[in-house]
Amino acid sequence: MAKSKVLIVGGTGYLGRRIVKASLAHGHQTYVLHRPEIGVDVEKLQMLLSFKEQGAHLVEGSFNDHQSLVDAVKLVDVVICTISGVHFRSHNILLQLKLVDAIKQAGNIKRFFPSEFGTDPAMMADALEPGRVSFEEKMVVRKAIEDARIPFTYVSANCFAGYFVGGLCQMGRITPSRESVVLLGDGNQKAIYVDEDDIATYTIKTIDDIRTLNKTLYLRPHENILSQREVVELWEKLIGKVLKKYTISGEEFLASMKGKDYAEQVGVTHFYHFFYEGCLANFEIGEEGKEASELYPEVNYTPVKEYLKRFL
Ligand SMILES: NC(=O)c1ccc[n+]([C@@H]2O[C@H](COP(=O)([O-])OP(=O)(O)OC[C@H]3O[C@@H](n4cnc5c(N)ncnc54)[C@H](OP(=O)(O)O)[C@@H]3O)[C@@H](O)[C@H]2O)c1
Repeated sequence: MAKSKVLIVGGTGYLGRRIVKASLAHGHQTYVLHRPEIGVDVEKLQMLLSFKEQGAHLVEGSFNDHQSLVDAVKLVDVVICTISGVHFRSHNILLQLKLVDAIKQAGNIKRFFPSEFGTDPAMMADALEPGRVSFEEKMVVRKAIEDARIPFTYVSANCFAGYFVGGLCQMGRITPSRESVVLLGDGNQKAIYVDEDDIATYTIKTIDDIRTLNKTLYLRPHENILSQREVVELWEKLIGKVLKKYTISGEEFLASMKGKDYAEQVGVTHFYHFFYEGCLANFEIGEEGKEASELYPEVNYTPVKEYLKRFL
């Protein structure tokens, strides 16, 4: 079977650039949306040109021009969208409804991957305000995809390692201290961490795999299902030192929202669900899902203990 042609929307983003790289590395004809709105953002342009040098095709298209999206979509078999969805960067999840309309009109897409790549939003119906918006909007996009009968795969990537492992699961930190750490509650709730390049590899691996058609692909690399305490212990072993530990209760953590800006408040509620409630790992994958490291055991994912070595 010929490898699917792939369009990546959001290809210059934090995750998107890795998906472009993985798509090229796996031999897919790779198309990247080039939005005229980038104006004179020279770094974005340089990145797009470097994708082109590596063999990608750049396609002009804008969310403000429906026909341009339809034309871009018609060039390929699979669309992967990695549009922004983190409040402290930018948040444009609902713009994807325009992409869904374009895919519906084009009528040729074998699979669409909307911008998810985090917590499974279907599991978050009881999420706290204000962070629940992240899950609600991703569910709105899911509904539009399913109403339009567009074939899909949702990727639940859990915690990006770059945001969570380096900072030893502390909010507002992305590098590990050699002195102390604040434990969230008892620090024993399990979460799941995935290197962003591995997220891209698993995503590309699955685009032509019938087993994940119309399903959620959960990324749960076995060695990376760890509590905050276990992440801290791995770091302590690497540096040969025990960190001083402080604890913040769930009530105090939620109360810390007061005085924070909206984006930070969203972050607080997400961290609360991950590290006080254990929402990432506290459910079994059902009929509607598949686990990536089981489907693709050949992927040498990065274990957390290896990931942490970059900070030595
Ligand atoms: N699980 C986790 O820990 C975690 C962490 C971070 C993100 N995520 C998820 O991963 C996904 C991607 O996030 P990211 O951080 O990689 O995103 P990002 O780097 O902030 O942005 C990705 C792309 O979104 C596009 N974009 C932004 N504003 C736009 C607009 N107004 N119109 C059209 N396109 C726009 C841009 O695409 P162009 O290339 O076209 O300019 C940008 O490169 C999101 O769903 C997010 O929720 C998960």
